[in-house]
Amino acid sequence: MTKTCNVALIGQKFMGRAHSNAWAQVPHFFDPPRTPVMHTIAARDAAELEVFARKWGWRNTTTRWRDIARDDEVDLVDIGTPNDVHAEQSIAMLEAGKHVACEKPLAGTLADARAMRDAARKRPKQSTFVWFNYRRCPAVAFAHQLVREGRIGRILHVRATYLQSWGGPDVPLLWRFQKKHAGSGAHGDLNAHLVDLARFLTGDEVVEVHGAIAKTFVKERALLGPRKPGARKTGRSDVDDCVLFLATFKGGATASFEASRLAQGHENRNRIELNGERGSLAFDFEDMNVLQFFDTQDGPREGGWRRIMCTSAGNHPYAENWWPDAHLLGYEHGFVNMAADMMRVLGHRKPVVPLPDFEDAYQTQRVLEAALVSAKERCAVKMSQVK
Ligand SMILES: NC(=O)c1ccc[n+]([C@@H]2O[C@H](COP(=O)([O-])OP(=O)(O)OC[C@H]3O[C@@H](n4cnc5c(N)ncnc54)[C@H](O)[C@@H]3O)[C@@H](O)[C@H]2O)c1
Repeated sequence: MTKTCNVALIGQKFMGRAHSNAWAQVPHFFDPPRTPVMHTIAARDAAELEVFARKWGWRNTTTRWRDIARDDEVDLVDIGTPNDVHAEQSIAMLEAGKHVACEKPLAGTLADARAMRDAARKRPKQSTFVWFNYRRCPAVAFAHQLVREGRIGRILHVRATYLQSWGGPDVPLLWRFQKKHAGSGAHGDLNAHLVDLARFLTGDEVVEVHGAIAKTFVKERALLGPRKPGARKTGRSDVDDCVLFLATFKGGATASFEASRLAQGHENRNRIELNGERGSLAFDFEDMNVLQFFDTQDGPREGGWRRIMCTSAGNHPYAENWWPDAHLLGYEHGFVNMAADMMRVLGHRKPVVPLPDFEDAYQTQRVLEAALVSAKERCAVKMSQVK
């Protein structure tokens, strides 16, 4: 019989649903050495919470997330709250002896991220995880394997864009548009994924960031909730709507990153391309089951980009857990794959695809910080300057 792992989740909206689905699906599709049990869900709205818990199968509810720290039955705490509370919640749970899985970006600020990293370092027997879910799209995991096998040779260029278009002036002042809650805008939200993907796929680290631009196009947004007559109806959006920057990797590769919430015509274009001396790879989340591969070994006669469907056991590391070959996966499967890998790690097995922990996500956060400094100071920033 496998050992169980009691999970408590904080946050019950977008990621609350994605994570609840992941924990619910793991035992249906995987047989990891620990089986997740949906023990407790915590969020602020008591009425919504009860409905949510019934719908997704959480056994207990609380509107006081700190109660979880005192609950000896809980093994792993999963954090799906806005970026400004990640540090407080993660550190409290680590101090209470829990394993922690936190949403990305690790935090809204580098200081918070560092405190989280330090808290994790003090407790090496407890595991930390960060939900950089795109690593577990089969096409990305396959690209990672091909790079490791040397199929594209030394990497010369990384080109990464994460373009969305939902952030127009009609969208109200959500926490995502407030620096005190989010830390940054498209940057922490979207560039965080790109930097993680670039570091993961290349296996290399950024050494310098150059020429960043951060822009806020929509500066005022409607305030949420009921207002007294005569009260202000709008508030200031003080985060970026887009951030672009260049970077160099230790191995010499050049990289470009661009994140925007105002790129009309692009819904969720999380795209990364690697150009190496022997070939190139490209992934686009809008066609997420496909990996594009250009192999110079094909020669000039038959050479060209190959469109590889990553839906078979040969190129899909989680294939045996899902559907027969050639049946597609979607957004939610990345989270399920990740939850299953966490259960492998907590059962002392290796994850199928490497998992980012707080230490790893802190390195991504340093690159994000370097880009913000570069944009503000209008200068290049060496990573050695960002502690
Ligand atoms: N991995 C991904 O692809 C991905 C996608 C979206 C969001 N995220 C990340 O997930 C996190 C949550 O984002 P979301 O889109 O789910 O936000 P959301 O606004 O949809 O949900 C936030 C939840 O946190 C709760 N909450 C807010 N402040 C709280 C507090 N102080 N104490 C307890 N609960 C609190 C809210 O009640 C709500 O249930 C963010 O860090 C975000 O960057 C990651």
